[in-house]
Amino acid sequence: MCGIMGYIGNRQAQSVLTNGLRKLEYRGYDSAGIAVFTGETIAVRKKTGRLAALEQQLAASPLHGSLGIGHTRWATHGRPSDENAHPHVDQSGKFSIVHNGIIENYLALKRELLEKGVTFTSETDTEVIVHLLAELYAGDLVEAVLQLTRKIRGAYALGVITEHEPDKLVAVRVASPLIIGLGDGENFIGSDIPAVLEYTRDVCILEDGDLAILTKDDVTILNIDTKQLINRERVQIDWDQEQAEKAGYDHYMLKEIYEQPRALRNSMAGRIDEAGKTVTFSGLQLRPLLNDIDKVFIVACGTAYHAGLVGKHVIERLARLPVEVDVASEFRYRRPLISEKTLTIVVSQSGETADTLAALREAKRLGSNVLAITNVVGSSIAREADRVITTLAGPEIAVASTKAYTTQLLVFYLLGIYLAQERQTLDEQLRIALIEALQQLPEQVESILANADEIRLFAESIKQEKSIFFIGRGIDYAVSLEGSLKLKEISYIHSEAYAAGELKHGTLALIEEGTRVIALATQEELYEKMLSNIKEVKARGATVLGISSAKTIELHRAVDEVWLIPSTYPLFTPILSVIPLQLIAYYTSLALGNDVDKPRNLAKSVTVE
Ligand code: AGP
Repeated sequence: MCGIMGYIGNRQAQSVLTNGLRKLEYRGYDSAGIAVFTGETIAVRKKTGRLAALEQQLAASPLHGSLGIGHTRWATHGRPSDENAHPHVDQSGKFSIVHNGIIENYLALKRELLEKGVTFTSETDTEVIVHLLAELYAGDLVEAVLQLTRKIRGAYALGVITEHEPDKLVAVRVASPLIIGLGDGENFIGSDIPAVLEYTRDVCILEDGDLAILTKDDVTILNIDTKQLINRERVQIDWDQEQAEKAGYDHYMLKEIYEQPRALRNSMAGRIDEAGKTVTFSGLQLRPLLNDIDKVFIVACGTAYHAGLVGKHVIERLARLPVEVDVASEFRYRRPLISEKTLTIVVSQSGETADTLAALREAKRLGSNVLAITNVVGSSIAREADRVITTLAGPEIAVASTKAYTTQLLVFYLLGIYLAQERQTLDEQLRIALIEALQQLPEQVESILANADEIRLFAESIKQEKSIFFIGRGIDYAVSLEGSLKLKEISYIHSEAYAAGELKHGTLALIEEGTRVIALATQEELYEKMLSNIKEVKARGATVLGISSAKTIELHRAVDEVWLIPSTYPLFTPILSVIPLQLIAYYTSLALGNDVDKPRNLAKSVTVE
């Protein structure tokens, strides 16, 4: 998730672009850059790191001109570097683009261009676009961009300028957000409303398939497939800056909870080969390793560790490989039984967590191959791991991790299927069914998010509780641990999660009249067992909320309140069942007046031991 910006008007584009990028930096801060038409040529300035680094460069050599595009990057393809920073230009330097999104077929297009003798200066998927555009250009920029949209596949919001037509700025939106800021004698594009608020409160939101042609005095929008002219509603924005950066949500945590459908789609993009319905991880090169691997270790901290617990169920069930899961702070000192036949998977949203980094180094010291699952491409863990699979959740600002967790689960599902494909432990029919179930998950998450009101009411009813219990069996137990952590870390209410079958061995003693219990019962093969555990706590007076995908009278009779989630393949239910738990934590913290995004005593990335 990057931030793009564009301007055409009478002001100096440089300051408009950097002001806009500053408001978009919450979307990514690995590098920043601008391209400005200086009256003769397009000049580019770009720099690794925060926007401030670019501004220093511009202070030394400013760009003059009133047509330009800008970008602040969240690295996905290619580490943070000056070469990989946007804007990208073609070999002639006459075309320049900025891009937010992922081009799924960039490798195939890059191969074609390389065969035609095109030289590349970066590792990005984006650079393919500008070279292709230059190839397609025949005197009409709009026509060339239309042809381009028929060749590239994936998610993309683009800003395009060329020396050949300095009177226009062209923008396209396909599955990646883009807005137009409407001015008087000037117009703007931006990935989000905060980018233009300083200059105008008149915006129109582009829809998927919209191509906009901006001149100083006009904006024309047409559909990329039909070329039909389109009228988009002009909206007056009355948000303040902070509200705008949260896209109108009250907190980053709520915004990030609602971003999960898109984060899941992004994390699947380019990793499912529709032809054979197989999972592919381009450039991962895990295959050569697999014949020798006889054990997997998953190591992480906090929420990432909870994702690892789900990963164990997935890899053992689908790929029939034994998996051990450990918290990094324990793993690094307990001399784990690891050899070169062990694949160690470290999981980390930030990629900077000290204990997980140390565990990575310990695993490597013991001869293991290390695969990192992380959300930050240029992070220490990404750099030191042998292989990396990125979650494409975009920046996660709130301390309480939400979209990083569900995208980590999704990566484990893709990895589980991939390992099963390689080890031939999954028949084709089931593999295809699993992949189709995965592709339905984003929409199913959307349907749960649509019913948040009842969750808000429930949160109100538990806010005064001193202690809350989460119970589940199998993979539900792993999700219960995550639900309990979310509630603890932002509501400060004591909470425990238990394997439901374990209650009668002690913890049941804590259950008394009115004790609140949240029970997950999503696993068909464990359903009956789970029902009897629910009856155990009910018999001691507990008040039970049941979360399940099975609409059975027994469950309704056994609990006080039932929330139903859509049904999916049993291993995949955690991505759905965790959503209500995230919202319970959010609304309880809100009801208690806590600082939801920055809870006490915690930090987003724990870089100390
Ligand atoms: C989760 O909400 C917490 N912020 C915390 O437990 C976090 O998951 C843990 O510190 C690991 O962080 P990482 O994924 O960045 O390594």
